[in-house]
Amino acid sequence: MEKNIILIGFMGTGKTAVGTRLADRLKREFVDTDKEIERITGMSIRDIFKKHGEIRFRSEEALMTKRLIEKHNLVVATGGGIVLNPENVESLSQNGVLVCLRATPEEIFGRVSKKRQHRPLLKKNLTVDDIRNMLAERDTFYRRADIVVETSGLDPDQIVQIIIEKMREYGHGNRKG
Ligand code: S3P
Repeated sequence: MEKNIILIGFMGTGKTAVGTRLADRLKREFVDTDKEIERITGMSIRDIFKKHGEIRFRSEEALMTKRLIEKHNLVVATGGGIVLNPENVESLSQNGVLVCLRATPEEIFGRVSKKRQHRPLLKKNLTVDDIRNMLAERDTFYRRADIVVETSGLDPDQIVQIIIEKMREYGHGNRKG
């Protein structure tokens, strides 16, 4: 049994795009925590925020995290705010390697502004400075990762390759990698 690979990082850093490819490459099951929450609640993330508020979403996220402790060999793409709750970080670290994807505020802005309406925490007239401020607020949480990967200017396949190399370097090699 191998530890889960948990992708953390700000919205728009490519956790899902990278995670699906990484799972394919390593022949592992892929789980996206936001998609799982949507499946279990029968509601979109947007509707959970709109109808029940962020607190309810965070509680669903914490429950989802607890379920992941029992599993192994997964690649998991998490929601960008999962690390704000220290208990989540502790649970995910129990049987997982935390890999943080980072990108510049400009690149994140370019990626999220197209899909802003799916991300309830991003306001209508979002600016690069808003992203910069949110990144600064969350920086200490993302720094809890075992491995950090700078993704700006790279495509998902290049990022996958870097993750695999860094995992080997840190002794978290995958037998099928
Ligand atoms: C959030 C990120 C979103 C989603 C929710 C809250 C956050 O996921 O979980 O909108 O607090 O950063 P992505 O990082 O996949 O956009």
